[in-house]
Amino acid sequence: MRNHLPKIITLIVACGVSGWLFAGDHGEQDEGREGGGLPAVDHKAWRAECGACHTAFHPGLLPERSWRKLMDGLDHHFGENAGLDAATRKSITDFLAANAADRLDARRARKVAASIPSGETPLRITATAWFERKHDELSPGVWKKPSIGSRANCGACHPGADKGSFDEHAVRIPR
Ligand code: HEC
Ligand code: HEC
Repeated sequence: MRNHLPKIITLIVACGVSGWLFAGDHGEQDEGREGGGLPAVDHKAWRAECGACHTAFHPGLLPERSWRKLMDGLDHHFGENAGLDAATRKSITDFLAANAADRLDARRARKVAASIPSGETPLRITATAWFERKHDELSPGVWKKPSIGSRANCGACHPGADKGSFDEHAVRIPR
């Protein structure tokens, strides 16, 4: 075990330095390098329950106050009853809150959070100015294609959506 110690220390130092180099680069190209990504997060009940009817939307796509409001109204969830037992609801709410746009230390998350005025609590990612801006090149008719159906169907065009990956090079619009 003792023999591994120098290696481990080298590794820690190397990671620290590259982390510092990475953090120091605030250029636009940063976004490309991150692959349009949010850090991968997971929670079993969230994936199962919130991924049952649509893409399991990454918590970093809305601020904490939005998730709390949304989770308080699951019985009337966009025309559906998505109600959960109290324990599951609390567990998912805690997970969403802890990884929300205004809580995550990630460039993409900070941008989402900054795009939403503090007095607003949107329940839709697709209603944020940030979402509009990222998709303003798409013609309005695209969203209505049967293979897509809704703006909220992130996974139709972003294969890695459920993992928080929105890499622009991976986007493919279904026919
Ligand atoms: C019974 C089905 C169902 C379940 C379960 C469900 N949802 Fe939804 N959800 C919907 C529908 C329907 C919409 C509206 C979709 C649309 O407009 O295309 C929606 C929309 C949303 C939106 C807004 C999408 C946008 O337009 O940006 C969010 C956020 C969301 N759901 C989060 C959740 C979370 C979190 C959970 C788990 C606690 C959950 N949903 C579980 C049916 C469901
Ligand atoms: C109709 C297909 C389609 C749907 C549905 C869609 N997107 Fe996109 N998305 C695109 C396209 C096209 C771009 C622009 C890619 C580019 O800049 O070249 C994009 C860009 C993005 C970007 C920026 C990527 C980057 O690297 O800068 C993010 C983040 C994103 N979308 C998130 C979402 C989320 C979240 C949803 C669902 C709530 C969603 N998208 C739904 C097609 C779609």
